[in-house]
Amino acid sequence: MKVVVTGGAGFIGSNLAEELSKKHQVIVLDDLSTGREINLKGLDVEFIKGSITDLSLVNRVFSGVDYVFHEAALPSVQRSVENPVATNEVNIGGTLNVLMAARDQGVKKIMFASSSSVYGDTPTLPKRESMTPAPMSPYAVTKLTGEHYFNVFSSLYGLKMTCLRYFNVFGPRQDPKSQYAAVIPNFITKILNHESPIIHGDGEQTRDFTFIRDVVHANILAMESSSEGIFNIACDRRVSLNVLADQIMEIIGERRELIYDAPRSGDVRDSLADYTLAKEHLNYEPGFTLLQGLEETIQWFRNQ
Ligand SMILES: NC(=O)c1ccc[n+]([C@@H]2O[C@H](COP(=O)([O-])OP(=O)(O)OC[C@H]3O[C@@H](n4cnc5c(N)ncnc54)[C@H](O)[C@@H]3O)[C@@H](O)[C@H]2O)c1
Repeated sequence: MKVVVTGGAGFIGSNLAEELSKKHQVIVLDDLSTGREINLKGLDVEFIKGSITDLSLVNRVFSGVDYVFHEAALPSVQRSVENPVATNEVNIGGTLNVLMAARDQGVKKIMFASSSSVYGDTPTLPKRESMTPAPMSPYAVTKLTGEHYFNVFSSLYGLKMTCLRYFNVFGPRQDPKSQYAAVIPNFITKILNHESPIIHGDGEQTRDFTFIRDVVHANILAMESSSEGIFNIACDRRVSLNVLADQIMEIIGERRELIYDAPRSGDVRDSLADYTLAKEHLNYEPGFTLLQGLEETIQWFRNQ
């Protein structure tokens, strides 16, 4: 099969491209705005540098392609709070281009990287796909809009699709350096550098952290499945940031005082998924506990 991973030089996209390249011909389309070419080092993939906001380029890249994994986006709730227009242009405008090209080039199925952020701060846990979304940030709005576009392209044009709502993904290659870095690579690199992790808020906010290899597996299951729809992809356990920091310090074997800073606007308080639908339709089950994922991730960061 010939497959395209948009955003394939990023954290999730490069892990996905690596796994796909073991069996398929893989093309990565990425403008390197948040991704890094080094993520593709040693991988058997074709790299095309360019933006999903360029429709004619996306059409050329998708020509003759069987499956598309649409991972390209400007991620981060915080970035979108600071610059909603940029997030909108890439995550909505770019996603529309990706759908147009997938439709016009006869792509067999397209998988979309959606996000748990679409649920917002509704009190009911765990989050189920039947719940009414309540986005709290421009980023979450763009992901929900992307899902709506996927549904519309499915019903209007018969484009086969699956939207995967990822819950806080972590693992090797996740960027610790960006000012919008996710919490796990941030904490790990701080502690490895003998510095204190900074927590926004009281640290009692909880997340359902999902190991990258489970997310990659879910995408491949979605490609191979005849099922379509919107599915939560998660680990199905939630931990607070305080407990998370404790576990990371335990594995690394170094204790640091935690520094508490002001909470960030747009962040949800608690997040936990019910992945029953993904289990029923895609045969998805998380294969890694938080601890197993953290051990592998910390080992990877130690080797860098
Ligand atoms: N990491 C998570 O916890 C998480 C959770 C939910 C959803 N997601 C979604 O998963 C996808 C991958 O996220 P990630 O964590 O790997 O982030 P990332 O920043 O590492 O990857 C995003 C990639 O998209 C590329 N990109 C950005 N704008 C582009 C454009 N205009 N044209 C082409 N490429 C472009 C970036 O250069 C980068 O390589 C994103 O769509 C993100 O919204 C991530």
